[in-house]
Amino acid sequence: MSVVLVTGSEGQLGLALQATFKAHPLFAPLFCSKSMLDITNGGQIEACIKAHSVRYIINCAAYTNVQLAEQEATACFKVNSLGAGYLATLAAKYGIVFFHISTDYVFGLTKGCPLSPSDPTDPLNQYGRSKRAGEQMVAARATHFYIIRTAWLYGEKGHNFFTKMVALAQKGDVIQMVDDQIGSPTYVYDLAAAIWEIVEKIAKNNLADYPFGIYHYTNEGVASWYDFAYAIAAALPNRCAVIPRSSAAVRLKRPYYSVLNKSSFREVFQIKIPHWQDSLALCVRKWQNRLGCFWIGFILNLSLYI
Ligand SMILES: NC(=O)c1ccc[n+]([C@@H]2O[C@H](COP(=O)([O-])OP(=O)(O)OC[C@H]3O[C@@H](n4cnc5c(N)ncnc54)[C@H](OP(=O)(O)O)[C@@H]3O)[C@@H](O)[C@H]2O)c1
Repeated sequence: MSVVLVTGSEGQLGLALQATFKAHPLFAPLFCSKSMLDITNGGQIEACIKAHSVRYIINCAAYTNVQLAEQEATACFKVNSLGAGYLATLAAKYGIVFFHISTDYVFGLTKGCPLSPSDPTDPLNQYGRSKRAGEQMVAARATHFYIIRTAWLYGEKGHNFFTKMVALAQKGDVIQMVDDQIGSPTYVYDLAAAIWEIVEKIAKNNLADYPFGIYHYTNEGVASWYDFAYAIAAALPNRCAVIPRSSAAVRLKRPYYSVLNKSSFREVFQIKIPHWQDSLALCVRKWQNRLGCFWIGFILNLSLYI
């Protein structure tokens, strides 16, 4: 069985990879949280690779606090660039296929049409710069690598845009949301399932059919943050008002238009990508089921004490 090391496994994508991994005779997943494996510690990574004869690495470990990165650039670069570099070097040394996750934040003020993997990068903030430096490390050091850029990840669990919106809606707040930043909301479980599908494809087929390099994966379709917030609010039982606003007053610079062109992903991997509205509907259903389970569990627990 081939061992697949997943770093940063307690983060949003790491947890989704855990949830979507289906026992498969080809693979033995090794999910490592930050406390189990620090990607800025080269010795620790090498010991782990040797101890478990790792064949694939999926790097979900990252410094992702975009705001704080402006003050903590060194800490951010250490994880997103140096850490990625260690993994890439060791992946090359041990003949490991390396999956590195990156972001639309590597792009700058763009041309207003979907961005291809080969389009020039020009990050606007420290997080974006650190992720671009990570990509460059991976491309320079790894021999068998896939860099998968994604954007706007969310799901029904953890800290993300969807769960924040749900919390605000439950408080009955009026939500103001920028309508001049455009991208593609991406259900984290769709990305996780796609990554497992790729690992399976390259393990079963001729690796040469799946050229190494940079690929883009987001859900299909395009939205502003306002559109996304409005769609979430509209799907919730306790509806709240969502009103549009401009991003002019927001101090941290982010790309205005970061819709990613996924043609090469579709062509090479032949994986169907759901539309963001369909995935959001699924997310809402799962969130409602979780809520239902919570109340059933609560009532059952209560009945034990009555
Ligand atoms: N979230 C998005 O909207 C989004 C969009 C585009 C791209 N991405 C990319 O997708 C990937 C996964 O993001 P995510 O949303 O799952 O992020 P996340 O929820 O913040 O998870 C990142 C994980 O990495 C861990 N980590 C931090 N430093 C580490 C280190 N030195 N060694 C090992 N683990 C470390 C974190 O642990 P602690 O929490 O304990 O620090 C956390 O568990 C990242 O590469 C990110 O840049 C995310």
